[in-house]
Amino acid sequence: MSKPTVIITGASRGLGLAAARFVAVRANVALMARSAAELAEAARLIGAEGGTAVPVPGNVTKREDCARVVEKTLAEYGRIDALINNAGTIEPIAPIAAADAAAWQKNWAVNLLGPLQLTQAALPHLRARRGRVINVSSGAAEYGLPGWGAYCAAKGALNQLTRVLAAEEPLVTAVAVRPGAVNTEMQRVIREQGATGMAPDVYKRFVRKYEDGQLLPPEKPGAALAALALYAPPEWSGEFVAWDEERVQALLGD
Ligand SMILES: NC(=O)c1ccc[n+]([C@@H]2O[C@H](COP(=O)([O-])OP(=O)(O)OC[C@H]3O[C@@H](n4cnc5c(N)ncnc54)[C@H](OP(=O)(O)O)[C@@H]3O)[C@@H](O)[C@H]2O)c1
Repeated sequence: MSKPTVIITGASRGLGLAAARFVAVRANVALMARSAAELAEAARLIGAEGGTAVPVPGNVTKREDCARVVEKTLAEYGRIDALINNAGTIEPIAPIAAADAAAWQKNWAVNLLGPLQLTQAALPHLRARRGRVINVSSGAAEYGLPGWGAYCAAKGALNQLTRVLAAEEPLVTAVAVRPGAVNTEMQRVIREQGATGMAPDVYKRFVRKYEDGQLLPPEKPGAALAALALYAPPEWSGEFVAWDEERVQALLGD
């Protein structure tokens, strides 16, 4: 029988790359991000580790790119068992009083409409495999963090998209995940841009987390994302789970 196949967006670095390396132990992976060179390097790394990966450069905000990653994955591996909608952006960091609606639209195009478009393109194939959609959300979906309006609103809406998808698609398991605070490029952007756009105490909390070595290595939540993509049970569909919940960690096995 052919191996399961998982599409992972934002797979060129950070959390997405870490998840892809874990998924590749058990499944074929299709990697999507905009930077072709970084994506090719990610695929090479996975190949060197004994996995099978196809890089498909593309932008999740473009409908045609989402369709292309689905087509390319089917051409390479013949099936799609799961998506990990992980590509995301924190910007713009600015208070609502100074909000630029066009910048919010760009944020939502990546964080919310990207997962929508890719899910839509893959749905017939996911239904056929009783597949899974894992949406990488954030604690910010449930908290109002000063300066993060666009991101908080997008991730809150992503959780709702997950719930509605679960209600509409009984053959697909849809789960939103909170990955914790992870040491990635996104956290560097927060430290670089947050001094002006965020409330000073919140900004300092993020800088301190980094300086005190409290940010998670991407491999920890990355392993949980991989396990959810491969094993999340149908009865969790519609839920917002945390990467470190006992039941999620139990999926990792030995
Ligand atoms: N880091 C944290 O503390 C944290 C906490 C909670 C949630 N998250 C979530 O975790 C996910 C991954 O974030 P990360 O921390 O790993 O960030 P990151 O290091 O900045 O990685 C983001 C990834 O998304 C890709 N990407 C961005 N825009 C894209 C687009 N339009 N189309 C396709 N790919 C795109 C990037 O590659 P290209 O630039 O080459 O496209 C990159 O591979 C995000 O959804 C984020 O909201 C992160």
